[in-house]
Amino acid sequence: MALTRPLGAAVFASGGGSNLQALLDHETTDPSWRIGLVVSDREGAGALARAADAGVAAHVIATKGRGADELGGEMLETLGGHAVDVIFLAGYLKLVPPAVVAAYRNRILNIHPALLPAFGGKGMWGMHVHRAVLASGATLSGPTVHLVDEEYDRGPIVAQWPVPVHGTDTPETLAQRVLQVEHLLYPRAADHVCRTLLEGARPGPMPMAGDYFALVSGTGAAPQRLPGDG
Ligand code: GAR
Repeated sequence: MALTRPLGAAVFASGGGSNLQALLDHETTDPSWRIGLVVSDREGAGALARAADAGVAAHVIATKGRGADELGGEMLETLGGHAVDVIFLAGYLKLVPPAVVAAYRNRILNIHPALLPAFGGKGMWGMHVHRAVLASGATLSGPTVHLVDEEYDRGPIVAQWPVPVHGTDTPETLAQRVLQVEHLLYPRAADHVCRTLLEGARPGPMPMAGDYFALVSGTGAAPQRLPGDG
């Protein structure tokens, strides 16, 4: 079935949901996607409150003690009930069941708070990632947006935005600087992928101007817009 604009989007989130908020707040005159569903594995997730504030349907799908087949079945039924075409993982910390990955191949995005393929994989989430980056002595970090496959953090990369690591950084200060950039990068990467899907093509890397390093080097401040935004 051909996809039509705007694509129906679901956001999966386990935590506070600041990336969900950035996606909800992203306004364009010609939207290629619209969020119609939020899914969380945690009853108390802040993301659920954000969904309620935005008037978006929210479902808790518990994962504890459940097999991938049962979980995948419930997810597919829920997604189907909300006309979901694309899924954005925004701090969702569970593996997406194989049946969902297969049904939404090339239509699930994830944001990860480090430059994959470094500092990714099982157990690499949230502050664990930033602690590992600092322990490694890396001088650059920054978010990656990628398509989701059957493994944690492994699918093809859509966009990355390097952020400098300072000698004075703690995991918390680095997390904060990377998160600011995540909020700028994720909606744009979602736009890029959804426009590509609407053209009937397979999503590839998002073009980014070559000078974006300059925007984030030196001061450590997150830029307010991406080069090329006009
Ligand atoms: C974000 O930093 C996101 O990149 C990270 O969790 C945080 C969620 O914050 N995701 C992962 O670590 C996935 N491996 P949020 O709930 O405020 O959007």
